[in-house]
Amino acid sequence: MLDKKDLENLKSKAEKAIKNAQSVFELEKLYRQFLGKKGEVNQCIKMLSKATPEKRKEIGKRINEIKQFLQEILVKKRAFFQQEMIKKALSEERIDITAPGVKVERGHLHPLTLVEQRVEEIFQSMGFSVVLGPEVETEWYNFDALNIPKDHPARDMWDTFWLKGKEPETRKQKAKSERLLLRTHTSPVQIRYMEKHNPPLRIVVPGKCFRHEATDASHEFQFYQVEGLMVEERGKISVANFKAVIQEFVKKFFAGDIKMRLRPSYFPFTEPSFEVDIFWKSTKEWAEVIGAGMVHPKVFKAAGLNPKNWQGFAFGMGLDRLAMLKYNIPDIRLFHSVDLRFLKQF
Ligand code: DAH
Repeated sequence: MLDKKDLENLKSKAEKAIKNAQSVFELEKLYRQFLGKKGEVNQCIKMLSKATPEKRKEIGKRINEIKQFLQEILVKKRAFFQQEMIKKALSEERIDITAPGVKVERGHLHPLTLVEQRVEEIFQSMGFSVVLGPEVETEWYNFDALNIPKDHPARDMWDTFWLKGKEPETRKQKAKSERLLLRTHTSPVQIRYMEKHNPPLRIVVPGKCFRHEATDASHEFQFYQVEGLMVEERGKISVANFKAVIQEFVKKFFAGDIKMRLRPSYFPFTEPSFEVDIFWKSTKEWAEVIGAGMVHPKVFKAAGLNPKNWQGFAFGMGLDRLAMLKYNIPDIRLFHSVDLRFLKQF
């Protein structure tokens, strides 16, 4: 038979268990054990039916009190767990805005691109336009039109990568020199440009060139040149103009007083021809950087212009060489070595 003492025991047992619960999960288990439909409190209520009316009233009241009490402490404990969970989540997700950031590395332009852009900028400031031409050329533009006929010993100056597949078939095609090659210099763009544009003109042509030769610290089979061409009416332009333009370029490009000299040379497409040397302080040597000269009458003719009316100068400089001098780079092969330790310096 149910008596008051049993009730008080149930109360203190349940109270203790709820207070000691370690998790929400445990708490829900206790709810079922004591307050659920088949829980211990409801069992007591069921047993009431067997008690006398007075006892039923007295004990029934106490059961309700205990039930309410247990419900209250259970709700409180549940709220406590919820609070704890929020606190934990907040501390775990806290963002420390004073922590040092992770630096995202940015890419940058290749030293050869930087040098090319600077060269273009300087010549543009002197009224030159930037023009491009094809890397795959015909024998005509790369050689014949530049006064380097077939079987002429001067062709040996340029070891050539000939392209297979499009061999000229007819005699006519052979005579027109339609054989394909990788251009050995940017000079063919002189012809291409003069065919389509009437002088006066001033252009620079940056671009990739190819030569079938062994590589070493100062030679690559692939390298870069910048071609220059300035054409005016005959009598209005001379070597003096060339010297002034190139002096201005060298001064701006190397940012300072740089010693340079013109040396007589030979190129089939210029007459007279020069080589421009720059005195390099670090090595105490003259470095050959630019080939140049006054455009040969045969070159004008090949481009469809009358050399009696036009005169001009042309030059071709090694972009890699310029970059090597400017940045003190000892080996041309470094440019395409994909070595980040090298590239990160620019
Ligand atoms: N094309 C020559 C070379 O690759 C360089 C050169 C020399 C270009 C004289 C010119 C020039 O336009 O006038 O070696």
